[in-house]
Amino acid sequence: MTSVAPTPPSVTARVPAKVNLELLVGAPRSDGYHPLSTVFHAVRLYDEVTVTRAQEWGVSVTGSQSLGVPLDESNLALRAARRLAELGGVEDAVHISIHKDIPVAGGMAGGSADAAATLVACDALWGLALPRTQLDQAASELGSDVPFLLAGGTSMGSGRGEILAPVLARGTYHWVFALSEGGLSTPDVYAECDRLRAGRRIPDPTPSPEMMQALRSGDPRALGPALTNDLQAAAISLMPALGDVLDAGLEFGALGGVVSGSGPTVAFLAEDHESALDLAVSLTASGAVQDVRRATGPAHGAQVLGASRTA
Ligand code: C5P
Repeated sequence: MTSVAPTPPSVTARVPAKVNLELLVGAPRSDGYHPLSTVFHAVRLYDEVTVTRAQEWGVSVTGSQSLGVPLDESNLALRAARRLAELGGVEDAVHISIHKDIPVAGGMAGGSADAAATLVACDALWGLALPRTQLDQAASELGSDVPFLLAGGTSMGSGRGEILAPVLARGTYHWVFALSEGGLSTPDVYAECDRLRAGRRIPDPTPSPEMMQALRSGDPRALGPALTNDLQAAAISLMPALGDVLDAGLEFGALGGVVSGSGPTVAFLAEDHESALDLAVSLTASGAVQDVRRATGPAHGAQVLGASRTA
C-alpha cells in the first residue's frame, strides 16, 4: 500500500511596493548612513511570498520581475526567515517562494518588501504571534525600509528611514511607474549624492510644509508639484536617460514626477484612473521607458493571505 506524503504546511503573504513622496537626505552620519526625512507611501503593486516547511533553507523566484534576485544567503527574505527562527527559537527550515512584480533594484523597496512579507508569513507558519514591537525591531535590523513595508499606508520616516510616525494623509492617488532597464545600487546613489553635494552645507532634513499641506488636502494637484527627492540628481547623474523619462511623463500630462527612492524607477502622479491609463499608453508608445506599471496608493503593509495547514 502506498501512502501519500502530507502536503507541507505553507503560508502566503502579500506585500506592496513603496514610493517616497518626499525624500530629504542629510549629511552622512558616522556609521555611513544618511539621516532622512521622508514620506513613505505604499502602492498596490505587490510581491507574494510563500513560506513552506522544508528540509533545507532555500529561496526561489518567479514572476515578471524575477531576473536579478539573489538566491543565496544574501537574499534579504532568507535573512528575515533565519532571523525570525532565531527570535522564536524555531529549528525548522523553510523554503521561500517569491512571486515578484516589484522591480528589482528599482527604488521601490522590492527586497525590503519581500523581507517584510517573510517576517509575517513565518510568524504565522510557526505560530509565534510575536509582539509587533519585536517584528518591527527585526525589520529595522534587516534594512531601513523594512519597518515601513510591515506598516504600509502613508507614513513619515526619520532616522535612517526606520523610525516611523503617522502623517495625516487623505485620498487615493493614481500612479504610473516608468521602469528602466537595469537597476541602480542604493549605496552607489547615496555616494553620488554626497559627491555632487561635496563642500556644501547640508541642513538637517525636516518635513516640508508644502508636502504636509498637500497630504492633508488629499488633492493630487497639490501633491504633484510637492513631490521631492534629494537622491534624484544623483540617480540622473548615474543614469542620464532618467532626465528624459521625467521630461516625457510631464509632457504627457503627469501632475508631477519623481525618481522613486534611489531609482531608477520614475513615479508619475496622474489626476485619476483615466489620466493614468492615458499616461501609461503615451509613455509606452514613446519608447522612452522599458516598461510601465500602474498602481494606486495607499496600500496595506505586508499581510498574510491564507494558510494551508494540512498535517
Ligand atoms: O538599510 P539598507 O540596508 O536598506 O540600506 C542600504 C544602503 O543604502 C546602506 O548600506 C547605505 O549605503 C545606504 N543608505 C544610507 N542612508 C540611509 C539608508 C540607506 O546611506 N538612510
